Amino acid sequence: MERVPFFSGSGVATALAPMQDITDAGFMKCIECRGAPDFYVAEYFRIHEYYCLGGRVLESVLWNPERVCAQFIGGDVSHIARAVSELGKFPQIKMLDLNLGCPAPKVYRKNVGGGLLKSPEKISEILKAMRSEWGGILSVKMRTGFDSDAGFEKLFDTVVSCGPDFVTVHARTVKQLYRGTPNYSCIAKAVKMCDIPIIANGDIESAQKAFSVVKNTGCAGVMCGRHAVRNPWIFRQIRETFAGIKPFVPKLSDVRAYIDDICAGIFANSVEIKFPDSRLKKFLNFIGASVDSEGKFLYKMRRATGIAALLKVCDEFMLDNSNAGKPYPAEPYNDICSRPNHEL
Ligand SMILES: Cc1cc2nc3c(=O)[nH]c(=O)nc-3n(C[C@H](O)[C@H](O)[C@H](O)COP(=O)(O)O)c2cc1C
Repeated sequence: MERVPFFSGSGVATALAPMQDITDAGFMKCIECRGAPDFYVAEYFRIHEYYCLGGRVLESVLWNPERVCAQFIGGDVSHIARAVSELGKFPQIKMLDLNLGCPAPKVYRKNVGGGLLKSPEKISEILKAMRSEWGGILSVKMRTGFDSDAGFEKLFDTVVSCGPDFVTVHARTVKQLYRGTPNYSCIAKAVKMCDIPIIANGDIESAQKAFSVVKNTGCAGVMCGRHAVRNPWIFRQIRETFAGIKPFVPKLSDVRAYIDDICAGIFANSVEIKFPDSRLKKFLNFIGASVDSEGKFLYKMRRATGIAALLKVCDEFMLDNSNAGKPYPAEPYNDICSRPNHEL
């Protein structure tokens, strides 16, 4: 356990989940100043024959290389081994993860990401190559199976036998995408099967939920994705809940300030973002699930075009008419749907 500092304390480890087009350095900075998680996982590097590490994803990892984990997705052992040795040129990077969960058909059909769960021998080959090339912390982020979790224990055993330092389990199958109830009993099984830390992922929507998942499964940590975009204070609230302290309750004016920081992050990208308002909408789609119980904010926001118009809608719901002082709930309102950006 000592190899990975985040698991050495008595509390629960926390991590921000990797999300494409969301978890860049600008966004991680927004989270960092609102009660940072122990570590972050950057969106994946898609490893293929001609891939050279670089661009926005590398920039995100180098923002805080001690605490941002790089993630690879790929299916060819030699390409992955080459990319691992290339990563070694950045000795400040300490953590590397293998994606065994991406459910996008155009990805899994190439037998990478979630598709690799259908080929345990391939997983073994890739992970062993990564382990032998990489002296840093190695982790795996996996789902419970491809179309069923009946074979989870066997799959998990294959993964663990390759020597990762810890494993994150998104408690759904690839075919479930991001819907349906996560099967946390797989996480409890994983905890019993090995002595490396297990991180639970999938619908950890509040500090209270994190508390019950940790108590029921014995996992060492929790990873939050969509709900950390909605509520960037979630990691602080988790720590406070585990310490027996009443968790911080942000106000809608705090959410409005968070949105300004998201905008600043979008415009600070060294690679220009072509449609900054679409990018901002991705975030607002998640945030909107806790702004008002009738979904009026989401309705208006989705119809606004341009950054100025979007921010005006935010002002209306989060600052005007004495809205500023209203508490921002820890959980999303029922029946408020964050899609279309809920899924890949
Ligand atoms: C927009 C989006 C992009 C994602 N991109 C990645 C990715 O690059 N790598 C990865 O391992 N998982 C990715 N995921 C999956 C998340 O990391 C996480 O496993 C999933 O959202 C479940 O956690 P949550 O319920 O806390 O959101 C993505 C999810 C979303 C919604």
